[in-house]
Amino acid sequence: MLESLNEMSARQTIFERPIVLVGMMGAGKSTVGRRLAGRLGCGFLDADRVLEERMGVSIATMFDLEGEAVFRDRESALLTELVNANSSVLATGGGVVLRDANRALLNDRAWVVYLRANAIDLWIRTRRDTSRPLLRGSDARARVSELLTLRAPFYEAVSHCTVDTGRQPVERVVDQILQQLQSRQSI
Ligand code: S3P
Repeated sequence: MLESLNEMSARQTIFERPIVLVGMMGAGKSTVGRRLAGRLGCGFLDADRVLEERMGVSIATMFDLEGEAVFRDRESALLTELVNANSSVLATGGGVVLRDANRALLNDRAWVVYLRANAIDLWIRTRRDTSRPLLRGSDARARVSELLTLRAPFYEAVSHCTVDTGRQPVERVVDQILQQLQSRQSI
């Protein structure tokens, strides 16, 4: 993983800062991020996968063994490392925006794209997935809705642009991200 980090720093995009995707679980950050990086010809990292690789266990196991607070500390430390390493395109976990320090770092040092979707679409996309500890239990649909209500203001505040992922094809989402980032750059 370190090798790919080094490689990625060497392959910065025309946008100079890292492009960081934020949004709820199920918003499509990994799928869109991978495709965006492909279009830009740069590297892609998914922060949760990097953390899992380093810790040797799944995010769900981290929650079970150490609890959410320790996971959030690990998530913040990794975010700082990846942003400082100038990772080109980075997908983050849905809760990364909860901490003020993470939002400040992202807002200052990255181009932040909020992948927005409504609660129903998010629930439909995540309902069969058992890997997300925050959506365990019988009332995942209400939980998605609650989390979205709580977090939407943070996603809005931290992001430089917002793209609706809804039911659009990935390629169209990527087009919109590129258009919005290009117009931000030329301001
Ligand atoms: C979380 C989202 C997950 C993962 C963890 C907590 C959250 O990532 O970081 O389960 O708080 O929304 P994805 O958004 O990639 O599912």
